[in-house]
Amino acid sequence: MKKLIAGNWKMNGTLAQAQALSRGIVAAVQDFPAIAESCDLALCVPHPHLSVVAAEISNAAGFSLGAQDCAVTKNGAHTGDVSAEMLADIGCRFVIVGHSERRTDHAELNMDISKKATLAIDCGLIPIICVGETEEQREQGGAREVVGRQLDESLPRVDAEIVVAYEPVWAIGTGKTASPEDVAEMHGFIRQRLRNLVPDPQVVRILYGGSMKPENAAELLRCPDVDGGLIGGASLEIKSFVAIAREGVATRD
Ligand code: PGA
Repeated sequence: MKKLIAGNWKMNGTLAQAQALSRGIVAAVQDFPAIAESCDLALCVPHPHLSVVAAEISNAAGFSLGAQDCAVTKNGAHTGDVSAEMLADIGCRFVIVGHSERRTDHAELNMDISKKATLAIDCGLIPIICVGETEEQREQGGAREVVGRQLDESLPRVDAEIVVAYEPVWAIGTGKTASPEDVAEMHGFIRQRLRNLVPDPQVVRILYGGSMKPENAAELLRCPDVDGGLIGGASLEIKSFVAIAREGVATRD
């Protein structure tokens, strides 16, 4: 399975910076043709930057556009929301749903995330559905239970391509990463759990996210059942994002 290396730019940058970053990443990836041949790359950017980044990557092999959230409803009187249909229309292929920052900042529940993922699929998008336990939940031995419930309740009940991202909340933006043993164990658990939830668990890409950087990407991407990365901080620099993508090539199954 091709690895998916997805940058999550979060709420960062100006339009000019988004253009320069996407242009720089495309140019740097073109210097290493193996990346586009053996990995899928996605740039998940803030809504106002989507069309500019879409133009920058439009002719670049291996690149797709992604958004970071979509509305829980199809359309209508929902001031400030952005629908899955609008994202598809502007050129997105992916949309992140259920990121822990959305779950925390906007009190999003598993059932909202399932609705968002379903709407995304209806519009032809591939949802990247995020799950992950907090530090406290892990310390109490509840990581599997939490992630299992998030999967059961957040995944859409349809037969379509989805991506799952395992992002332990305590590893996001903290510089702490889960150990390769913990990552392998949780990804194996997620793959097992998917058996009850999707027709073919083997084709679902399971990404790891949480302080992935060039120095730890190889050991994380080499773990069994790790099919790519969702990269926050390190995706905001051309060099580090491309270095991680190169590890995606080196660790391809
Ligand atoms: P991080 O973020 O790489 O900065 O930890 C990952 C994410 O939140 O998707």
